[in-house]
Amino acid sequence: MSNIFNSMIEWIDKRFPLTSNWKAHLSEYYAPKNFNFWYFFGSLALLVLVNQLITGIFLTMNYKPDASQAFASVEYIMRDVDYGWLIRYMHSTGASMFFVVVYLHMFRGMLYGSYRKPRELLWLVGMCIFFVLMSLAFTGYILPWGQMSYWGAQVIVSMFGAIPAIGETLQQWLLGDFTLSDAALNRFFAYHVVTLPLVLLVLVFVHILALHETGSNNPDGVEIKENKNPSTGIPVDGIPFHPYYTVKDIVGVVVFLIVFCGIIFFAPEMGGYFLEYNNFIPANTLQTPDHIAPVWYFTPYYSMLRAVTVNFLGIDAKLWGVILMAGSVVIFCFLPWLDRSPVKSVRYKGPYFKIALTLFVISFFVLGWLGTKSPTPLYTLLAQIFTVIYFAFFVLMPWYSKIDKTKPEPKRLQE
Ligand code: HEM
Repeated sequence: MSNIFNSMIEWIDKRFPLTSNWKAHLSEYYAPKNFNFWYFFGSLALLVLVNQLITGIFLTMNYKPDASQAFASVEYIMRDVDYGWLIRYMHSTGASMFFVVVYLHMFRGMLYGSYRKPRELLWLVGMCIFFVLMSLAFTGYILPWGQMSYWGAQVIVSMFGAIPAIGETLQQWLLGDFTLSDAALNRFFAYHVVTLPLVLLVLVFVHILALHETGSNNPDGVEIKENKNPSTGIPVDGIPFHPYYTVKDIVGVVVFLIVFCGIIFFAPEMGGYFLEYNNFIPANTLQTPDHIAPVWYFTPYYSMLRAVTVNFLGIDAKLWGVILMAGSVVIFCFLPWLDRSPVKSVRYKGPYFKIALTLFVISFFVLGWLGTKSPTPLYTLLAQIFTVIYFAFFVLMPWYSKIDKTKPEPKRLQE
């Protein structure tokens, strides 16, 4: 039996680099031996990506991208299609879990300085993935053509209208009409099911290639490639990714699936956070909902969009909101160059960085919470204060990361 298997592999290897790739990326890819639970989130992001692709294909089989039929086709999926409710909840819960997993994955990068040299490009590819992910979530949320799909999209699309001179033309070009209508629904459907998933897949492939070029960082921020066994050429602090981390990642997958199934079966709407109540009402172009709020993963940025209430430096308040909102995401791209600390990992960084990171996390959560609320003068003031704290984390980083009291980074992994 094993002879047949070996000759099959040999046959393939003469025509396709199967064994050499298996070795280069799995059985002889040496990863640091001190990965902790933070390192589960990359493989979990891959798992959610596959879930979204498969459930998305099945949803597309019964969904109708037509303004007069879209809402009813989703109800049809929920009630009449065999296991349609399960497929839809796997996809809608998957969307929120994608953001949970990717936010934790990014936060790990911030904790251990994984964005620093030599992984700047890996980080930038990650940021491109994040932009595509946001676009995927936005275009997907429009498809059920409920009240929140319609009015949420209206808010986002009107942001383009705030751009001076070209705004209005750009908005019409994006919509293919003067207002949000069937034409826009059709094109957002095309982006959601074809364009963006393709771009995402290519980017994820490039992301993993870039990672395997530099090698993984780790909780100590030590470069294991700099300390190789002279006779074997293998990093002394490395272990083969397969079987060690393929098996370890199964633990993360099991815990994740327990949480994922718990949400799907017991709280698929998650109290209105994963699927908003207003989106169970068909889109009505003549009636704005009392309170428009995006899904939870966009609320921190939405708070910043609403935080500017006065015209300033000759720029309209609305345009300032758009600039701040876009800036709050784009600024992550500059982290590799803003961080001037001599060490990578939070383990060896000093109190300034730890305080700044804690304040940043608090501001992210508070802004997220404020984004779910209707604005009041107090909430707007809070949004303004926390927007300043959010940006201060980045803008002041070259200063506080340089003067911080760091501990010396070890030469070898500590655990
Ligand atoms: C679809 C989304 C994504 C997928 C499937 C994905 C996949 C992965 C995988 C499998 C790894 C190796 C395992 C690990 O280190 O956890 C990884 C590492 C990494 N990813 Fe992602 N990723 C995604 C999004 C992002 C984003 C949005 C960023 C940041 C902007 C990012 C930045 C990084 C960095 C810096 C590393 C290296 C971490 C280290 O070695 O410490 N990734 N990614």
